[in-house]
Amino acid sequence: MNRRAFLRLSASAAVLSTGLIGCGKNGPAGGISPSDSDPLPDPVDATVTKGPWLTILAPGTVRLRFETLEDVPVPVVVHTDGFRADLVTESTTATVTWAWGWAQAPTIEDLPGAYTVHDVIIEGIAPGATLEWEIRTTTPVSGSAHPNPLPSHSVTLAWVADTMYPTSETVAELATAMVPDLVLHGGDMQYQSNPADTWNSFFGFMQPLMRSAPFHACIGNHEFDAPEEATELYDRLFSGQGDTDARWHAVTYGPVHILMLDSESGDLADVGSEQVAWADAELAAAVSSGLIPIVAFHRPTYSLSKHWRSDTTLRESVHALAIRHGVKLVLCGHVHGYERFVVDGIQYVTDGGGGALTYDLDEKRDEVEAARPGESELRVMAERTYGCTEIVVDEGTVWVTRTNVDGEQTDGFSFRAD
Ligand SMILES: [Fe+2]
Repeated sequence: MNRRAFLRLSASAAVLSTGLIGCGKNGPAGGISPSDSDPLPDPVDATVTKGPWLTILAPGTVRLRFETLEDVPVPVVVHTDGFRADLVTESTTATVTWAWGWAQAPTIEDLPGAYTVHDVIIEGIAPGATLEWEIRTTTPVSGSAHPNPLPSHSVTLAWVADTMYPTSETVAELATAMVPDLVLHGGDMQYQSNPADTWNSFFGFMQPLMRSAPFHACIGNHEFDAPEEATELYDRLFSGQGDTDARWHAVTYGPVHILMLDSESGDLADVGSEQVAWADAELAAAVSSGLIPIVAFHRPTYSLSKHWRSDTTLRESVHALAIRHGVKLVLCGHVHGYERFVVDGIQYVTDGGGGALTYDLDEKRDEVEAARPGESELRVMAERTYGCTEIVVDEGTVWVTRTNVDGEQTDGFSFRAD
């Protein structure tokens, strides 16, 4: 779906005194600005199958997205700092052939069929405002978030990656306890190797996080477990994050500007590629605006595990970008566990402990040393545990803490952004 095709509500119908604007298929008809004493729109008979979740498209602009079985317009009520707007979703129905799961599993199977994705876009959210939303389905679903903090605000980010049922439920609870303002997923949301690990189960255990913070994702290799999966699931559900329609994007959140890159296409390894040129320009603009740059992607460039890379092309591309623009934090997943390398002052944090089975993180140490003597000495921490990583940005200092599912904080560091 091209979000730029959305109708923008007429000013007379939808601009509240806060400047809040909502966009949906039915535009002005849905864009009334009632008072809190007016009754809520009648709920519609629709079964939510995935979501809802918020995606930041630009500072002050978010998209609320969810999937239903039925192709019917769904009313959405949003509040921000006491002002209300009643919206109606724009919907797109697609035939999905992807099937995964096991009827006897404790999770919900992914079944083929026709599924409808619903969007509303909310613009004009004031800096620092709280956004509350409620979708008016038979069983209403609601949530809230702080989607547009000021650069001077303290923000908490949670990084989770490589989520596989059932441990992913515990990791999601751990991330929820961090009370993140923004959730970042490093890819590999679901694994076809586990018949109980479905896209429906992913959206199930992520719901507490998705109802309390915007959610952004990188694409991982397991989003390509089947030929149709990347397009029918990942692209259909996660297209149009940030300011691009590509499989990479950037998001500004208060004091930070985060690049969520695509390490799976090969494009990122090519210094002359469209993605690298885009990342270069994004980082330059972010730094010139005083924002703290963070780079994230799925497949790490440093590891002593079986996922070490003999080809350093991607590393050289990313490291050059980081050096050029003063990036001090690079986040990755893919390795099922936690590793941290420090290279030229850049913190390379890999946390793919989201639930997929862990393994020996030193399995390829000898091969790495044989190929690149001294490289293993760059690793400052490794732990074969499930868990996730918290990033707190407060007054120009970035605090990073890794917590495992036993509740132990086993790694932590901080750096000044300037
Ligand atoms: Fe992976």
